[in-house]
Amino acid sequence: MQFNIDATSNKARACTIKTAHSTIETPVFMPVGTQATVKALDANDMLSLGAKIILGNTYHLYLRPGSKLIKKFGGLHGFSKFPNSFLTDSGGFQAFSLSDNSKPDENGIMFKSHIDGSKHYFTPQSVLDTQYDLGSDIMMILDDLVALPNTKERIQKSIERTTKWAKEAIEYHKSQQEKGIGVNQNIFAIIQGGTDKEFRKMSAEQLCALEDFDGFAIGGLSVGEPNQDMYDTVEWTTQFMPENKPRYLMGVGTPEDLIENIERGVDMFDCVMPTRNARNGTLFTSFGRVNIKKASFKEDEKPIDEECSCYTCQNFTRAYMNHLFRAGEITYFRLASLHNIHYYLNLMKQARAAILANKWDEFKKEFYLKRGVN
Ligand code: GUN
Ligand code: ZN
Repeated sequence: MQFNIDATSNKARACTIKTAHSTIETPVFMPVGTQATVKALDANDMLSLGAKIILGNTYHLYLRPGSKLIKKFGGLHGFSKFPNSFLTDSGGFQAFSLSDNSKPDENGIMFKSHIDGSKHYFTPQSVLDTQYDLGSDIMMILDDLVALPNTKERIQKSIERTTKWAKEAIEYHKSQQEKGIGVNQNIFAIIQGGTDKEFRKMSAEQLCALEDFDGFAIGGLSVGEPNQDMYDTVEWTTQFMPENKPRYLMGVGTPEDLIENIERGVDMFDCVMPTRNARNGTLFTSFGRVNIKKASFKEDEKPIDEECSCYTCQNFTRAYMNHLFRAGEITYFRLASLHNIHYYLNLMKQARAAILANKWDEFKKEFYLKRGVN
């Protein structure tokens, strides 16, 4: 992968990441396509939205339909027909959050499928094998997550394990690449450590010393801690991360979270929020969130957001969206998802333009002002 820093504004960065499948301008929001599709949308929709990278998920695709099947169809790109980049999460997080009684040990994670209860074991090597089959452009390592709050001993154990697995993963990846496997695929490590400064520093220093990683992620956040704790942890952690590689904050967040964490030096984000919220009626606009099911929209002739240039806002009214939502029409999910993803991608585009023009502070002020926050 090629990585270039195009401009900075204090800690905020505008970078370019070039993979085998696309050129990604940062800050970037990666829409979540857990099952090899962004829910309610398809590859052409994602192209028309201008998405340069979307997420896939090792845990889900390994269980169903299986990575060997996807490999037969040309990996995620051939299977879904989305030609730009994919990033795949390792499955560590899902084994931890979706499976009842997942059990990590020194060598991997034993878990029960949330689909049929069958038992599976993920190792640092096996999750890479799955991701080689998927053909993702960026692969995440297996990490050991802990529920918070937890004991110091357990958090320390999670850091030690995550570092041990990261070392095994990078060694394995190098050996596979020498055999011609995964040569166009990049690999990111995941920093853990809860909201404790010493633990975050320890995890960041141990992982960032492994120079063969192509980028680094901050994991284990946005799991119920107060927002300010997340911001403080990110601000603290980025100082231990290399300048010359992408920084990815996993599973974050609201539009406000993105702005705050770009300011703290993060380049990449993913979250189910725009798509999940679209489906339950919450739409993002330049003046804040709206709940489209509200009775006041019943006869509203305006688009969702008059400033929005998305397909939905160019063609349909709030009244129509209100009706489709109340009637439970499938079309609603598609139109709402198109709008919300457009909102997130456009926010990142504007953030990048502000960094390039050295106008970050004005941009941020305007962002909050429009939402009625001073
Ligand atoms: N998604 C959100 N947070 C995390 C994390 O800490 N690890 C992994 N693997 N995926 C995540
Ligand atoms: Zn719109």
